Amino acid sequence: MAAEISKLIGYEAPDRPVSWLKRDLILYALGIGGGDSNDDLSYIYELDPNFAAFPTYPVVLTFKGDSQDVNLFAETIKSSALPGLPPVDLGKSVHGSQSIEILKTLPVASGPGWKWKTKYTGVSENKSGVVITSENLLVDPQGVPYAKLYSSSFNIGMKITGDKFAKVIAGPPQAKPIPKDRKPDWVVRQKTSPDQALLYRLSGDYNPLHIDPQVGRAAGFGGTILHGLATFGFAARALISAVAYDEPDTLKFIGVRFTSPVKPGDVLETHVWEVGPGPTGTGTIEVAFVTKNLTSGKDALGGGIAYVVKAQALLAVM
Ligand SMILES: *[C@@H]1O[C@H](CO)[C@@H](O)[C@H](O)[C@H]1NC(C)=O
Ligand SMILES: *[C@@H]1O[C@H](CO)[C@@H](O)[C@H](O)[C@H]1NC(C)=O
Repeated sequence: MAAEISKLIGYEAPDRPVSWLKRDLILYALGIGGGDSNDDLSYIYELDPNFAAFPTYPVVLTFKGDSQDVNLFAETIKSSALPGLPPVDLGKSVHGSQSIEILKTLPVASGPGWKWKTKYTGVSENKSGVVITSENLLVDPQGVPYAKLYSSSFNIGMKITGDKFAKVIAGPPQAKPIPKDRKPDWVVRQKTSPDQALLYRLSGDYNPLHIDPQVGRAAGFGGTILHGLATFGFAARALISAVAYDEPDTLKFIGVRFTSPVKPGDVLETHVWEVGPGPTGTGTIEVAFVTKNLTSGKDALGGGIAYVVKAQALLAVM
């Protein structure tokens, strides 16, 4: 069994068509809390002179594909299953981690011919389940990559060998530890709205868990929860506003682990530490961060890492 699974690592799923319009970008930006203050309209107003895609937009394409309509969540999951693995139990699969590296600025509407390429790069098993990692590449009609993403799911109770087993051929960079000896360099507080999940789902993730309280209760959350990727978007907004003073094209990479759920309406606080320079040639700094549910104090996002161009010029004149 382990040998069989090993062969599946590196397996490439068939390419899928993806597309977006300006409306999709605006809807996504609202889903991650954009528009909560009127000082930056660039992600939510098509006539703003700096109108642009929010850099983490590609994360929604895995569910959205090229559809303009709602989809059946169960179908989207089925089509992304890894052949050779036991079937994924929807109720027991949670999003474990996500990263995105932004390689080029997205056009505000895709036009036809864009593709979503998926390769499975990791399977690892422990006593409580199996982590499956995939690498996604967003490419334009000429095959030029615009974003590279890693996503992992934790499938509770899934068994391969029943023992410890791991094969991983690629994955995102891991966060440096949070410095224990100093306070964060930046703290950003953001309020999610009671209808945050209702808005976010319109970007393509129609999992009933985020709208049907009965499904949320059955899953043990006491009601609906916010999409992990919505919280991810809030964190990306926090980083761009704090570290880069809302300058566009400054976020080059962000990765997180989803550590506890957020309920629509919760207040988030992102704590950010500068921990060194980013990769050579990117002009970025590396930050480590956590995003907490302010009231409960629990980390909703852990292991946060990002490469951001710091707004030094602006800081210098303050
Ligand atoms: C197995 O891995 C998952 C995901 O990384 C983790 O949350 C869980 O605590 C691990 N369980 C054990 C028993 O190590
Ligand atoms: C976040 O904190 C608030 C206030 O304590 C609490 O009502 C809410 O349930 C917490 N959310 C989660 C997901 O723990």
